[in-house]
Amino acid sequence: MNALDEQFNALEQGLTTTSAKQTEQIACALAPLIPVNQVLAFHGELGVGKTTFIRALAKSWGIKEHLTSPTYNLFKIYQSSSRCLIHLDAYRLEKGADFENLMVDDFLHDPWCLAIEWPEKIEESIPTDAWHFYLTIEESTHHHLRLVRS
Ligand SMILES: Nc1ncnc2c1ncn2[C@@H]1O[C@H](COP(=O)(O)OP(=O)(O)OP(=O)(O)O)[C@@H](O)[C@H]1O
Ligand SMILES: [Mg+2]
Repeated sequence: MNALDEQFNALEQGLTTTSAKQTEQIACALAPLIPVNQVLAFHGELGVGKTTFIRALAKSWGIKEHLTSPTYNLFKIYQSSSRCLIHLDAYRLEKGADFENLMVDDFLHDPWCLAIEWPEKIEESIPTDAWHFYLTIEESTHHHLRLVRS
């Protein structure tokens, strides 16, 4: 097994991180391995670290702007030379909301990444080739992270 396979293997088995910094380091290691034009779906309760992970991806892709949770808008667009990142937080959407109406697709400029928090709100619209991250809090700062690639 090569180093790359090992990295994916570990994430697919599931990893426990003991600090936000460690979660960020995992995201940074993964960022260059994420294919272009990929949807990433982040599952997990409030405060589990979804935004923390996506912020670290943005940084790794050379996005200078500090990524924050979209408050007024449902999604925010970040651009660097290596990625157009759209960060969509579906928390405030009704379950089964019409994703098409958001017109996110219009802003996805190749090479893009669409990172979605609360994907269960729009699960019908999540493409079958999306990567799913399942995050949980084990205790205090011990957070668990598992990747499922379809
Ligand atoms: N091991 C860890 N991994 C990630 N975050 C951690 C960890 N330990 C503590 N934290 C803290 O947990 C918080 C995670 O917040 P974050 O905004 O990333 O969560 P979220 O899943 O996006 O929540 P929301 O659903 O409200 O958007 C941060 O304050 C972070 O510092
Ligand atoms: Mg968040």
